[in-house]
Amino acid sequence: MTRRVAILISGGGSNMEALVRSMTGDHPGRPVLVISNEPGAAGLARARRLNVPTIAIDHRSHGRDRAGFEAELARALDLAQADVICLAGFMRVLSPEFTARYAGRMLNIHPSLLPKYRGLHTHERVIAAGDAEHGCTVHEVTAELDGGPILGQVRIPTIRGESADDLARRLLPWEHRLYPEVLRRFCLGDRSPVLLG
Ligand code: GRF
Repeated sequence: MTRRVAILISGGGSNMEALVRSMTGDHPGRPVLVISNEPGAAGLARARRLNVPTIAIDHRSHGRDRAGFEAELARALDLAQADVICLAGFMRVLSPEFTARYAGRMLNIHPSLLPKYRGLHTHERVIAAGDAEHGCTVHEVTAELDGGPILGQVRIPTIRGESADDLARRLLPWEHRLYPEVLRRFCLGDRSPVLLG
């Protein structure tokens, strides 16, 4: 059975593109919708070029009404009949109500070796701590920020003297390998962790 996959973005959408490009042939998923909370996100144009339907849902138009923003998100996801939701550089924190609604169906990629470095500025924090390795994690989304069950991880060694930007740039291609691999398995009902690197 083909899984209908929606992808939520806020920015450039390189992970979104990797996911979309992976869903061909015998892949168990197909991209049905890309949503951005940032109407100007470069990833929206990128998704259109890939022939995936897009919607912008600007969180700012809801002011402090997070429930209103999330209701609009849920409407779009449900209209598209999304089975699986991939957060890919989606920079809004989702409420426990929203994560519960899509429990067991929503994934996220986070640029750190979770459980280390939840939240923002992970590359800077790895360098400041002098860690010998860094990486990225795909996990199920729960109410706990960057805290759900881990479905895949890549580990890479850090290089002495490199900047946070260099480290982020070296990690990104690994994100593009890991996320599609996890999504493929997830669509088949396989939650055993993917370990790369
Ligand atoms: C990625 O590093 C992702 O892990 C992080 O934000 C970045 C998004 O990049 N949360 P892109 O929009 O997929 O190019």
